[in-house]
Amino acid sequence: MAQKAWGGVFQEATDRRVEKFTESVTFDHRLYAQDIAGSTAHAKMLAHVGLITDDECEQIVQTLAEIRRQFEQGEFPLRIELEDVHMHIEQALVERLGDVGRKLHTARSRNDQVSTDLRLWVRESIDRIDALLVELQAAFVSRCRRDQDMILPGYTHLQRAQPVLAPHYWLAYCEKFQRDRGRLADCRHRANQLSLGAGALAGSTLPIDREFVARELSFEGVAANSLDVSSDRDFVIEFSGALALIAVHLSTWAEEWILWSTTEFNFLKLPQAFCTGSSMMPQKVNPDVLELTRGKSARVLATVTRLLTLVKGLPLAYNRDLQEDKEAIFDAYDTVAACLELAAPLVAGAELNREAIRERLDRGHLDATTLMEYLVRQNVPLRTAHELTGQLVRTAIERKLRLSDLSLDDFHTVYPAMDDGVYGVLGVDNAVKAFVSYGSTAPAEVDRQIGIWEERVLHGGHREHGGRTESATLARTLS
Ligand code: ARG
Repeated sequence: MAQKAWGGVFQEATDRRVEKFTESVTFDHRLYAQDIAGSTAHAKMLAHVGLITDDECEQIVQTLAEIRRQFEQGEFPLRIELEDVHMHIEQALVERLGDVGRKLHTARSRNDQVSTDLRLWVRESIDRIDALLVELQAAFVSRCRRDQDMILPGYTHLQRAQPVLAPHYWLAYCEKFQRDRGRLADCRHRANQLSLGAGALAGSTLPIDREFVARELSFEGVAANSLDVSSDRDFVIEFSGALALIAVHLSTWAEEWILWSTTEFNFLKLPQAFCTGSSMMPQKVNPDVLELTRGKSARVLATVTRLLTLVKGLPLAYNRDLQEDKEAIFDAYDTVAACLELAAPLVAGAELNREAIRERLDRGHLDATTLMEYLVRQNVPLRTAHELTGQLVRTAIERKLRLSDLSLDDFHTVYPAMDDGVYGVLGVDNAVKAFVSYGSTAPAEVDRQIGIWEERVLHGGHREHGGRTESATLARTLS
């Protein structure tokens, strides 16, 4: 009983089953570095305002550094009767420093301590995910020049639609991950507020200096309402939301590439090192990494619901329910980080099956829309052009021809004024070249965008742009 932080009022020891039920150290031990950073800053502040002496502060800071090394070397023993990582570290300090150690928790509650540690962890985790997103973007961007002239069928409803340059596909993913970076950066600002000093819920009667602690820990600000911040887990939920969208983006990419790597599509050859075989069917090469990337998104999406449900019924200030936030967010973070770590090398290592793709581009009349727009440029009303092109597609299907195989006479049967300029927009190569609009798959436009992305993620430009950009950074800014 002596080692419990609340010994005074209690006359009975905690039931062992309760200790097992309520402990969090088996998962929150991973906050040790954040806890020691927070305690170090707190001790310096206590000395700064005269609540402990400089010498006491020095002893605390030194000893915390020793404890940190012990954790780093995996030599710090964990005991569930000490409940959480915060109690473990404080207890170790008291064992080594006696009364000096007993002063560290001055003007502090575990409530603001846990929240501060978690904010530090979220901040670091956001930075790690952001760096991994940049690596993945870089993998896509690095493919762009290699695949620059490659045309792929673009799909809507998974039906052949219009021809698209391969780098246009790669940069589409980059855009999604750039928005993810923006969400992370946005969430980071709200996580990056100091909660320490809120005490249990109402603040402290001691003359603490919260700005001092905020500066020590590089927080952007100090939370303004102690009652609010002791219950606030918005930053955890926002982070889970940003992670969920990343997981969804990864899942849709994985799904597309699983399809593309099937024998039926045969667009893509995945690196064998990223596939596994079947124990029964000798010929199988399965895209397991992609499948698990798709599958694991379920855990991350569920985390958002789990966290929202966790907090929805809580009154203000700390409630023990909040301890449940950590395993949820740790799992979502670990999952997304693991997926991202494999996604970048997989993107870099996959090969497009150029011939297989090329020989099938002629199927599906991918140039029909280009033909329709050619008629529009001849001043044919759009709806009429749509109808006339539909008739031409029907003729081509009936005669098993491509649109470019139709003769000028064929064109004249539906549109007597057609000139032979039409052949300049037919066939996928011409159709791609016919695009002109901003953000389209026009070769010059794609080339320009590749340049922007190369600057951004290959030449270090991401550090300036960072996730600070709110939405798609390639979007034109309208005045
Ligand atoms: N282990 C708990 C957690 O991680 C800390 C509990 C702090 N507060 C309390 N009043 N028991 O949330």
